[in-house]
Amino acid sequence: MELTPRFPTFLHGGDYNPDQWLDHPEILHQDIEMMKRTHVNCVSLGIFAWAQLEPEEGKYDFAWMDDLVERLWASHIHVCLATPSGARPAWMADKYPEVLRWDRFFRPRHFGGRHNHCPSSPVYQEKVTAMDEALARRYAAHPAVILWHLSNEFSGDCYCPRCQEAFRAYLRERYGTIENLNRSWYTSFWSAMYTSFDQIEPPGPMGQESLPAMKLDWRRFSTLQCRRFIEMEKRAVRRFCPDLPCTANLMEDFHDYDYFELSGSLDLVSWDCYPAWGRGDNTETARNYAMNHDMMRSFLDRPFLLMESTPSLVNWKKVNQLKRPGMHLLSSMQAVAHGAQSVMYFQWRKGRGGAEMFHGAVMDHDLREDTRVIRDVTEVGLTLERLSHLYHAPLKRPQVCILYDWNTRWALDYAEMGMPGNMGYLETVREHYGCLYEQGISVDFRNCERFDPDEGYALVIAPMLFMFSSGIEDRLRRYVEQGGTLVMTYVSGMVDGTDQAFLGPTPYGLTDVLGIAYQELDALYPEERNHALYRENTLLEIRDFCSIIQAGRAQVLASYTDDFYAGSPCITRSVFGLGHALYMAARLTPEGLARFYQDLLKDLGILSPFPHPLPHGVIVTRRADHLFLQNYSGREVRIPTDRCWKEMIHGQTLRDCLVLPVNGLLILRSEA
Ligand code: GAL
Repeated sequence: MELTPRFPTFLHGGDYNPDQWLDHPEILHQDIEMMKRTHVNCVSLGIFAWAQLEPEEGKYDFAWMDDLVERLWASHIHVCLATPSGARPAWMADKYPEVLRWDRFFRPRHFGGRHNHCPSSPVYQEKVTAMDEALARRYAAHPAVILWHLSNEFSGDCYCPRCQEAFRAYLRERYGTIENLNRSWYTSFWSAMYTSFDQIEPPGPMGQESLPAMKLDWRRFSTLQCRRFIEMEKRAVRRFCPDLPCTANLMEDFHDYDYFELSGSLDLVSWDCYPAWGRGDNTETARNYAMNHDMMRSFLDRPFLLMESTPSLVNWKKVNQLKRPGMHLLSSMQAVAHGAQSVMYFQWRKGRGGAEMFHGAVMDHDLREDTRVIRDVTEVGLTLERLSHLYHAPLKRPQVCILYDWNTRWALDYAEMGMPGNMGYLETVREHYGCLYEQGISVDFRNCERFDPDEGYALVIAPMLFMFSSGIEDRLRRYVEQGGTLVMTYVSGMVDGTDQAFLGPTPYGLTDVLGIAYQELDALYPEERNHALYRENTLLEIRDFCSIIQAGRAQVLASYTDDFYAGSPCITRSVFGLGHALYMAARLTPEGLARFYQDLLKDLGILSPFPHPLPHGVIVTRRADHLFLQNYSGREVRIPTDRCWKEMIHGQTLRDCLVLPVNGLLILRSEA
């Protein structure tokens, strides 16, 4: 599947910041020579180059970039051209302090760092537009340029008076009247009532912090602010080349903006992936990042770009470990297996000084051309070339969908219930995901708004779907009625889209579908456990949360064994229409959860794409007709096989036994 009409195969390369090296022509020369040798075909250029591109207000200097674009192109290296709005020059902050952000204590920030701009500053908007148009006018039609990389890792909120006013305008538009807003924010408690929109400030430590619905609206507003900024940049760059696609690099596990929403303003999703691969067993890390990849693919339901990763180490974790041998190829191919159309790095060359001088890069300070990192990077480049046929192969629609929703995430974070601030939504989603992942079963993600009951999923899992918004209950009902299988858990369907509790039985609108009704939530201390007796002979362990439910017509699959609710239902299943709806009232430990899903997947006939059982830490992921067999277990593994396999990197035929060293990878196609 082509990402851009101008680029026919996997991208390999990374952030290139030559603006640090303009007085070192020999370095620039070595850069391009080494890019060719490492099979790099693309760089992201100019991400933080504003100070060099416009050294004085209105005086642009594109000469160095002209020269580089030509030299890169002469070596067949393409360019994702960045807009430099992620960091601005000192002269601008000095002359127009309004371009800088205000913090949540309502204090203006000073010049420095990056990602420090006010999105509603008219001056900043004008300056960014002018810069983006200038870049577009000059380069967008250049054959080397294949993609716009808008800004860098959009993040954060601004609390300046202008952004506050924009928040109030957003609320006026959303609620129409102050009475409506009061009702939706439930201000009738603690005298929180407003009599005018003008009284409203953003939520925070300086004032109102006790209205969860308000905090939720602030997050939605921040998402919208970011979207508006992206749209503004898109308009600017598109003026001169309407068909060049735009991306923005997203981040892992990001909380503050709703990425399903935000992606609506992007042509392509790309993201920055920085796992802490360690020594030994990396299975859990692999699971978490596999899930991130699947989410990124799901936002626009199409292949994505791995925009940044490190070829060796980062410099900002508590302990910065090198990638062990094999891990660079393995982790890069993990991304490809999940639908990435690129492997890109931060950054091409280590800076001599400044913020990230010790962050891993392809080229190191010692200027050597034969390092371990360079060999690893070259191996990835060659592998991507050998897999080029996969670039075009359509991705298969997974059979399983997980509902993950930013509104629920925020609402659970702000909910003072159970374990306030520590409800563990993301971790729970990961644990459910992991049960499928470990069995080689692919997963899509949808949020409430995007879930479509007719997409054909055999199984839909909605872990902790606390907030039912966009009428999700109706679509889930239809999904089950038509023959789907739904798994729901504790704390589902408790609040509506304005974060107010539904009155009446919950999960709202689905109690007849699930055949149960929720009653109470019990939270356990970390050392406490409960258990559920499952299918009459298996004891599943429970931690953190037990909800007490009343089972109506649902069949009870497991009951609590301990405490005053011993004997009451814990896992249930109901038949509704042509489908099934299962309810899990408690948080099972990972072993219990794995057991539950093993049975369910077997019942549903959802099978691993790999025909043999795999030991812990060996994961199979399918992309088109290729099976990516990945060893994260930290030890060598041998898998007996009675099939004949074609190994796709080196082209050998494998039979009898598949051998995976530590961090080993086999990309296989079945020959028989
Ligand atoms: C990313 C960022 C890069 C670089 C990198 C270091 O979050 O976009 O510019 O700072 O982290 O790991």
